Amino acid sequence: MADRHPSLVGQHALVTGANSGIGEAVARALAAAGASVVVNYITQPEAAEQVVSDIVASGGSALAIRADVSREDEVRAMFRQAIETLGTLHIVVSNAGIQRDSSFLEMTLDTWNAVIGVNLTGSFLCAREAAREFVRRGMQPEVSCALGKIIFTSSVHQVIPWAGHVNYATTKGGIAQLMRSVAQELAHRKIRVNSIAPGAIKTPINRSAWDTAGAEQKLLGLIPYDRIGEPEDIGKAAVWLASDESDYVTGTTLFVDGGMTLFPGFATGGG
Ligand code: BGC
Repeated sequence: MADRHPSLVGQHALVTGANSGIGEAVARALAAAGASVVVNYITQPEAAEQVVSDIVASGGSALAIRADVSREDEVRAMFRQAIETLGTLHIVVSNAGIQRDSSFLEMTLDTWNAVIGVNLTGSFLCAREAAREFVRRGMQPEVSCALGKIIFTSSVHQVIPWAGHVNYATTKGGIAQLMRSVAQELAHRKIRVNSIAPGAIKTPINRSAWDTAGAEQKLLGLIPYDRIGEPEDIGKAAVWLASDESDYVTGTTLFVDGGMTLFPGFATGGG
């Protein structure tokens, strides 16, 4: 077996939606583990620049690139710029995601399409560009024993149905099969493809679910481990999945959810 590299030194990573929330924590964690990181964003460029300057200030290397992941031309331009600047990519984290909540009866096609576009089509476009670059570049055993690593940010809602969020839950269910099918197709090339499925993590996307004492108590009722997750919980999982420490792991979803998928309603034996 080729040498395994526990750190990410010498590797180049791209993280979509990396100017806030989970993406930001993943970008910071990959950089702390030694990777150079592309911080993708679409709104709030100053937040992306802050992530970049923090990484650089702590001795790392990063750059921000704006792109709407739902648009093929913008995704391709972002990968082109990243590869021109860094030489190649070894790790791509398809993380950008949005929620546009609505009751099913009221859900418009625009609301449906917006979420499918970013969460699912964006994941397809970024994973495809990643795989194309890994294949073009070829093996670099001095940095990793895999040709490349693709990590999707999924959600517990790839298995938990979610009333009022049908568009969002559908994209996460879709990411599960996207991830498994791409993993199956690319494993022989030594490309590893996995997902992280976070539960409730304190980020701007779900602020209303945790920023008052009442909301937090209600949310904790769904989390057996009895704490709401922090973005850093996901950053650590991403570093492991990106490094050779997880070299035999592909086609897997790593749930990082404090037990949210354990049917907490049955904790006392159910009916
Ligand atoms: C959603 C959050 C939600 C969590 C648990 C995530 O995928 O983005 O809004 O709190 O799932 O329900």
